[in-house]
Amino acid sequence: MFFTQLALLSLSASAAYVGHFARNLGPPVATLNAITAELKMIDFDLDPENFNSASNTSVAFVIDGTFEAVNAVTLDASFQIHACVSLNGVASPEDAAFFINLANTTYVPELLSVLNKTIIAKPIFFQDSLPELDLVENILADLNEYLDSSLLYLGNLTMAAPNPGAQFSEALDIEKVVLRAFDEAIDAYECPGASTVC
Ligand SMILES: *[C@@H]1O[C@H](CO)[C@@H](O)[C@H](O)[C@H]1NC(C)=O
Ligand SMILES: *[C@@H]1O[C@H](CO)[C@@H](O)[C@H](O)[C@H]1NC(C)=O
Ligand SMILES: *[C@@H]1O[C@H](CO)[C@@H](O)[C@H](O)[C@H]1NC(C)=O
Ligand SMILES: *[C@@H]1O[C@H](CO)[C@@H](O)[C@H](O)[C@H]1NC(C)=O
Repeated sequence: MFFTQLALLSLSASAAYVGHFARNLGPPVATLNAITAELKMIDFDLDPENFNSASNTSVAFVIDGTFEAVNAVTLDASFQIHACVSLNGVASPEDAAFFINLANTTYVPELLSVLNKTIIAKPIFFQDSLPELDLVENILADLNEYLDSSLLYLGNLTMAAPNPGAQFSEALDIEKVVLRAFDEAIDAYECPGASTVC
């Protein structure tokens, strides 16, 4: 069965996937939920209200730290899927459909929202950036690092889906949407000055 071995390592359980535990999707679903939870924290930190209530420099450092955290969780998720596939082969179409649908409804919208808000925040980081801190460079480094771990995660997500099959194309679609969003955000931060469009 898919994910059998790793299911034993899962320590957390949420109501959302208990019903699917018999299919042994536990750990990947749990890690996907963990990624989404980390992304929600970045999303909250990027809220314009937070910029007005605290020093924007310290807000930027919190965001920087949260990117580090989500990067670690995403990397771990890719290892887990990789290990599962090595042990058990690709998911059944039914398992993959559940998994991909969850990615589509939680991870993808949250990530797109974070990247969007990151773009919008660039002028604020630029305006408040002390030259020696270079907040724009910091966030750009975060974006590139998170792109790398997301690529591994998405590569594994695609690898876990039966190919050929509907879930395989859906995984590729997710990858396309996410990569386009990363491109936009990275382009915005690579623009010189406060501008988000070159
Ligand atoms: C932070 O950025 C906001 C939005 O641009 C600005 O209104 C505010 O004055 C800035 N706060 C500080 C402490 O620099
Ligand atoms: C996933 O989202 C894409 C759009 O980003 C959509 O085209 C696709 O139908 C969705 N798939 C599922 C299974 O929700
Ligand atoms: C990103 O922001 C723009 C406007 O700033 C908005 O039109 C668009 O829907 C947003 N996209 C996402 C995925 O949140
Ligand atoms: C899957 O994840 C592992 C661990 O991060 C990585 O080494 C591997 O390259 C990934 N596979 C794909 C197809 O991206």
